Amino acid sequence: MLGNRLAELLSGSEFHDVRTVLYPGSFDPLTNGHLDVIERAARLFDRVIVAVAQNAEKNPLFTPEERCALVVGATRRLRNVQVRAFDGLLVNYVRGCGAQAVIRGLRAVSDFEFEFQMALMNRKLDERVETIFMMPKDTYTFLSSRLVKEIARHGGEVRPFVPTNVGRALAAKFGSASSKSQTT
Ligand code: PNS
Repeated sequence: MLGNRLAELLSGSEFHDVRTVLYPGSFDPLTNGHLDVIERAARLFDRVIVAVAQNAEKNPLFTPEERCALVVGATRRLRNVQVRAFDGLLVNYVRGCGAQAVIRGLRAVSDFEFEFQMALMNRKLDERVETIFMMPKDTYTFLSSRLVKEIARHGGEVRPFVPTNVGRALAAKFGSASSKSQTT
């Protein structure tokens, strides 16, 4: 038995558990800020599940299926990223996925109060669910899905703020000429 333990320690196999994190959100739609967080998480963890909330209480522009498809399209090159839709309480979904933690992006101090409240409430609901905050690149501090939708709705240029496929989808929703001109 001791021999097995020694072999395990020497091979480092005890560290080989797959580390899965869940990145939940409305993603209505995915922005470059979200994508930046996904890329950072994908470098740190074995598996990242982007969990798209179906029951977003915000009168979403895109359906859950559309939001999932946009995340899938934008993260195709990240081999350890999966995309799923979820309904109901986040803590229940986290455990069901075999995830060890939830990732949330913090853009600025103004995000902190709500995120802190949500993290502690999730812990109250299930003390095994940890929340890890990650900061997107500082150039995305001002970015939000809400603002991107507003800009697109008024025909503004959204290309710097969203992945290409999202820009196209916004153009299709709003008929924005600036977004339609994208070629890739
Ligand atoms: O991108 P968002 O809108 O900030 O994401 C919020 C989201 C979807 C992560 C949050 O509303 C959520 O977890 N919803 C699932 C229902 C739930 O568990 N609510 C209790 C949170 S304490």
